[in-house]
Amino acid sequence: MIRRGVLFDGTDKILYNKKMNYYEENAGFSKTASQIAAYEAQVQSCRDCPLALTRTQAVCGNRCYQGDIMLLGEAPGAAEDRFGRPFAGAAGKLLQQFLAESQIPAERLYIGNAVKCRPVKPGKRPGAWRNRPPRPAEIAACRRHLQAELALVRPKLIVTLGAVPSSCFMPDKPQMGQCHGKPFAAGPYRIFPLYHPAAVMYNPGLRRAYEEDMQTLVRYIQNEMI
Ligand code: URA
Repeated sequence: MIRRGVLFDGTDKILYNKKMNYYEENAGFSKTASQIAAYEAQVQSCRDCPLALTRTQAVCGNRCYQGDIMLLGEAPGAAEDRFGRPFAGAAGKLLQQFLAESQIPAERLYIGNAVKCRPVKPGKRPGAWRNRPPRPAEIAACRRHLQAELALVRPKLIVTLGAVPSSCFMPDKPQMGQCHGKPFAAGPYRIFPLYHPAAVMYNPGLRRAYEEDMQTLVRYIQNEMI
């Protein structure tokens, strides 16, 4: 159950550690190939919302299932829909640049999206599609896949990129201007909201805040021994 997001404090830390110990003692690190295959098949065969009608393919994560830090984006765009992997386009390039600077080892990073299929609207030319943000009903329809993904990866920290993935862990509509760079707990999860890299691309005024948030994230990972 996801409870109201609160700023991370000592109580949450104890609860979180208890929960993680429980997982580790009882789940036996059972990220078996068959569990991974079952998760990916569930996503690829999903027809729960109309995005299934326009997608080329559903996009699972970057397949780094041993990662203990989950980066959660919004939804695939045209490049991701085409290549079948998250952050394959321009926003991904910028994200990779920030991550390289952060020096967080790539093998620690599971990268996925809150919504697994590309949300589209008709483009100017007949038959062409353009990207659009996912609708609340699409985010809700995809929630079961996110829950399965979280159960499989069991991340110690979830870095939400923008308002859509942040909204999956908050009861109210996230105001990124207020919550970026401030970690909080949601149920057993620790959440660290960042601006979406595309927001930084289109609004260079956010770049400085993004870089500072990245530094805060690295310190947070070190101080909390994540
Ligand atoms: N690419 C993704 O995979 N997710 C986003 O949120 C944006 C671009």
